[in-house]
Amino acid sequence: MISFLVSAFVLINLIFLLTLIFFAWFRGAPTVFTPQKAVKKMVKVAEINDGQIIYDLGSGDGRLLQEAARKRKALCIGYELFPLILIWSKLKTPFIKKRGRVKLIFGDFWTKNLNCANVIFCFLMPQFMNQLGNKFQKEAKTGAKLISYAFEIKNLKPKFVLKEKGIAPIFVYEKDMNNKNRIYQREGL
Ligand SMILES: C[S@@+](CC[C@H](N)C(=O)[O-])C[C@H]1O[C@@H](n2cnc3c(N)ncnc32)[C@H](O)[C@@H]1O
Repeated sequence: MISFLVSAFVLINLIFLLTLIFFAWFRGAPTVFTPQKAVKKMVKVAEINDGQIIYDLGSGDGRLLQEAARKRKALCIGYELFPLILIWSKLKTPFIKKRGRVKLIFGDFWTKNLNCANVIFCFLMPQFMNQLGNKFQKEAKTGAKLISYAFEIKNLKPKFVLKEKGIAPIFVYEKDMNNKNRIYQREGL
């Protein structure tokens, strides 16, 4: 009887965990970390200033925000759907020497407004990139940067693409007054 209850408990927890993993997958991406070399490059090209607000959409173990907060006195906010990785990121953040603040929040970034972000990092599945491009266009303020690891946003024109040996390309987008026109051109509307 006890072994049945233990097996049922383990099974239920396993199903719960798998559901959460697949949920995150279908809402953006599975948990795969950006390589440390790319993390450093992404933070560098973001040109973050003190006092800015930085987002990571699907923050994983928090590595991008931790690096950003290490470099600058910025407020770094991450949204993460997978609770285990969120707990891990929260546990390791206090041990990292930093100048800024890191706030890691359980939540679906699609439901959050991007209007106060100066820099937005992401590493998401290609099928979500156009939707993210539209969200960025609609909500981000002029001058905000969107920095995507590995996958481009086809309906936005990048400011530049950084290609380095050993890592995937880094796509840098910047919201400006003309971005709307660019979307129309690219989509042929
Ligand atoms: C490819 S990983 C990238 C992690 C981290 N940003 C990095 O660069 O190392 C994507 C993360 O986004 C999370 N995720 C996917 N969809 C999400 C959503 N809609 N809201 C919040 N987090 C999401 C996943 O759980 C996963 O940990």
